[in-house]
Amino acid sequence: MNKEMVHILDHPLLQHKLTILRDENTSVTEFRQVVGEIATLMCYEATRDLPLEDVEIQTPVAKATVKKIAGKKLAIVPILRAGLGMVDGILTLIPGAKVGHIGLFRDPDTLEPVKYYCKMPSDIAERDVIILDPMLATGGSASAAIDFMKEYGVKNIKLMNILAAPEGIQRIREDHPDVPIYVAACDEKLNDHGYIVPGLGDAGDRIFGTK
Ligand code: PRP
Ligand code: URA
Repeated sequence: MNKEMVHILDHPLLQHKLTILRDENTSVTEFRQVVGEIATLMCYEATRDLPLEDVEIQTPVAKATVKKIAGKKLAIVPILRAGLGMVDGILTLIPGAKVGHIGLFRDPDTLEPVKYYCKMPSDIAERDVIILDPMLATGGSASAAIDFMKEYGVKNIKLMNILAAPEGIQRIREDHPDVPIYVAACDEKLNDHGYIVPGLGDAGDRIFGTK
């Protein structure tokens, strides 16, 4: 496995907040809020390699040559439903990002992703894309989402998940070796139902209170 393509963001704040998500006693309100906070913290790390360019400005004191972000504009693409919980946290840091949506659910029997919705910004092919989903379990949903982005002509894709299983990371490395993965933790394994162990349960249900 090319370790440089798998970023495990083990900052103490992220680990602390992840513990709140894992706890079955955490309320829907707090779960939703903490998912957003984790997305903001992860965004800070996942954008560390954004290119900069020099610009001339006038401060109140002097003229200065300073840095601003250069290069292509960004789009974020949450995988519905649970990825929606990460959107506001990213927009806090990158308010100008456009937002595309991919609707996928995992068939509970086959664990294969089923696509039910897709709406992208018209200029998506010219943007760098960060795909958002709290969970990377078998990796089927994320791999399919990356396939769709590539079909749209997107060249530069990053995948951001809060929690991963080794199986999911392995799947993305095999299917899409060009796509870097950012996770806050990689857990032990998947159980027989494709849930991450110890994990945090069903992310969509816990964000939207549907269980
Ligand atoms: C969850 C999660 C991912 C997917 C991960 O979505 O948010 O999209 O499962 O599993 P995989 O890596 O094995 O594909 P789910 O299908 O529960 O849909 P939801 O977000 O609408 O609840
Ligand atoms: N989807 C979830 O929401 N949780 C898991 O543990 C696996 C897939």
